[in-house]
Amino acid sequence: MLIVSNWKAYVDTEKRAEELIRVAKRITKKRSFQNTLFVPVLAPPFPLLGVYRKRISPLSCASQDVSNIAPGSGTGEVTARLLRALGVSYVIIGHSERRKNGETDSLVREKTQRALEENLIPIVCIGENFRDEHGQYLSELRTQIRAIFEDLDVRLAKKIIIAYEPVWAIGKGAGGAMQPDDLEEMVLYIRKCISEHIPERSALQLPILYGGSVLAENAFLLVKQGRVQGLLIGRSGVESDAYQELVKALSKTS
Ligand code: PGA
Repeated sequence: MLIVSNWKAYVDTEKRAEELIRVAKRITKKRSFQNTLFVPVLAPPFPLLGVYRKRISPLSCASQDVSNIAPGSGTGEVTARLLRALGVSYVIIGHSERRKNGETDSLVREKTQRALEENLIPIVCIGENFRDEHGQYLSELRTQIRAIFEDLDVRLAKKIIIAYEPVWAIGKGAGGAMQPDDLEEMVLYIRKCISEHIPERSALQLPILYGGSVLAENAFLLVKQGRVQGLLIGRSGVESDAYQELVKALSKTS
């Protein structure tokens, strides 16, 4: 089970980065969620990724974004090829905090394809901004999913991980996450939308993560009842106590 810690811009000192790496290595060792071993992934900001990628090993690294361009003239861009060469395994693409800054569905698609070309595993974020009573949010999700999978080679599509992060649930703290039964339904809906583009069998096997106010209090039920293959966490991954509590809560045996 994947637990991807998105450090966002929270972690801005080397001391704090080092502490989080130490805790992640210690706490996740040999722990499992109902017999499925944890796969902890740390996603530091770019400069810390460069400095600490070797220290993070054998845990995996993710970048918080990737460029859509090939190596060349692109000031400020960080290419998939460079990330791959540095030993990064996963890239988070289309996080709502980037979409809010103008990242479109088509840019998300380009970035996803660029990551796949370089053998990086894309963790592509989707999620509705808010819930409306007419179900418009379902079409919003379907459109995001179409942009990712339409006409994509199935062999490549199978390498994608989807992170479902309803924007209204992100960064809300206790009580802000979605309910596990709601998540279970949304996961079914997401798989149905994906199966409009790739064979149903492959759509059923695609890993789906949940993100949005995951805490020690709600993590276990969200994963178990929500039937997700892991979590994308923000706040709970950047405070070492909260991170330890979360991992312990997930690894309880019931
Ligand atoms: P949160 O963030 O866990 O702080 O709600 C999740 C995310 O943005 O990925």
